[in-house]
Amino acid sequence: MGAEVVIEGLTKSFGKQAIWRDVTLTLPPGEVSAMLGPSGTGKSVFLKSMIGLLKPDRGRCVINGVDIVTCSEHKLYEIRKLFGVLFQDGALFGSMNLYDNVAFPLREHTKKSETEIRRIVLEKLDMTGLNGADKKLPGEISGGMRKRAGLARALVLDPEIILVDEPDSGLDPVRTTYISQLFLDVNAQIDATFLIVTHNINLARTVPDNLGMLFRKELVMFGPREVLLTSEEPVVKQFLNGKMQGPIGMSEEKDSAQIAAEQAMFDAGHHAGGVEDVSGVPPQMQPTPGVPTRMGAVRRKDRVMEIMHRLPPAAQESIIASLSPEEQHHYGVHPRRVAQAQQQVQQQVPAGMRPPGDGVPNQHHGQLPADQVARIPGGQPPRSGTHRMPPNNGPGGR
Ligand SMILES: Nc1ncnc2c1ncn2[C@@H]1O[C@H](COP(=O)(O)OP(=O)(O)OP(=O)(O)O)[C@@H](O)[C@H]1O
Ligand SMILES: [Mg+2]
Repeated sequence: MGAEVVIEGLTKSFGKQAIWRDVTLTLPPGEVSAMLGPSGTGKSVFLKSMIGLLKPDRGRCVINGVDIVTCSEHKLYEIRKLFGVLFQDGALFGSMNLYDNVAFPLREHTKKSETEIRRIVLEKLDMTGLNGADKKLPGEISGGMRKRAGLARALVLDPEIILVDEPDSGLDPVRTTYISQLFLDVNAQIDATFLIVTHNINLARTVPDNLGMLFRKELVMFGPREVLLTSEEPVVKQFLNGKMQGPIGMSEEKDSAQIAAEQAMFDAGHHAGGVEDVSGVPPQMQPTPGVPTRMGAVRRKDRVMEIMHRLPPAAQESIIASLSPEEQHHYGVHPRRVAQAQQQVQQQVPAGMRPPGDGVPNQHHGQLPADQVARIPGGQPPRSGTHRMPPNNGPGGR
C-alpha cells in the first residue's frame, strides 16, 4: 500500500513573499488526490516542498514516521526513494533515448544488474504504452509520449507516492483523458498514493478521490471530491466554471471594489466567459476493465462513510447517491435522509435560532472536518472547540 502523507501547518515563503501558510491535510494511503488553484498560488512549490527540494519555513510533512522538514539529509535521501515524480514537461534528458531515461533512476539508485534493469524498463514502457519507442530521443516524440515516458521513469523505483505536476500541459483533451486513465490504472496496479496538481477541470471532476484548492495563500479546502464539487464557495465555483466573474483575477486576487466594478459590467451583459454551468458530481473514472480493483477506492469508501455525517449536506447526498443499493443498505444510509433531516429542522426551529449547518450534526457551512480543511480565506475563522480538531486525531485519511 502507498504511504500516508501527513502535512501539518506547512508554511512557505521566499524572502518577504509568503506563498502559502498553515497548510494541513492528509493524503490517504493509496488514494488519488488532486490540488487545484489559480496560477501562482504555489502548487508547484507545494510539490517541491513535499519531496524536500524546497524547505518550508514551518510545519511538518510526515511520511512513514519521518518529518522531511526537519530530518537529516541522509533520511531525506532515503525518503525520496519512495517518490515518483512526473514533472510538467516530463523532465527527460534530451540526449538520452527513452530506454536510458527510464533506466536512469535504477542505475543511479540501485545496484541492479543490466538484465534486471532491462526487465523493469521494458515492463514500465509497456505499462505506459511505449512499446517499441525505447530507442527514440525525447525530441523525436510527441508531448503525450513524453508525458508517458516521464511516468514510466517515475514508476521504476516502485514508488509509494506519485506526484504529478500539471499532467495536461501540452496535451489535447483526449490525450489528457488517456493519461488520466493511465494514472487510475497504475494506482490500481501498485496502490500508490497520488497527488496531482492540475488546472484541468475535467480531470479534477472525474479522476481523483479527494480534491483540494489553494487560494489567497491558504488551503481553501481538502477532502472527499464530493465536497469541493458541490461547494458554494465563490472561489471554487468560479474556478470550476472558468469564469472571470468571482474573486480570482488575472494576476492578483481582486479586491471588493474591483469585484463590484466587474459585476456591474457582467450585469450589463458582458460575457463572463467560461462554460455555461459546471456543477454537480459526475461519475468517477474507473480502472480499465481487466485491471485490478483500486484498493484505495475500496478503503476510501469506508473512510468517507465514517466522516460523512460531518460533511456538508450536498456532499452527503452525492456520496449516498454514488453507492449501490447494496452499499446503501450495508452502511445504513438512505438517499433522501439528509434532505429530510434538514427539512425537519427548517420546519421545527424558527429562523435565526438554527444551529450552524442547519441542524445536520457537526455541520459547519460547507466546511470539511478540521483535519481536512484549513479555512475559507476571507471567511469566518474556525470557531475553536467546534471546528478545529487536534491534528492526527481525525479520520482525515486514517
Ligand atoms: N525558487 C523560487 N524562488 C523564489 N520564488 C519562487 C521560487 N519558486 C517559485 N517561486 C514563486 O512562488 C510563487 C508560486 O509559484 P508556483 O510555481 O508554485 O505556482 P503554481 O501554483 O504552480 O502556478 P502555475 O499554475 O502557473 O504552475 C510564484 O510567485 C513564484 O514566482
Ligand atoms: Mg506550477
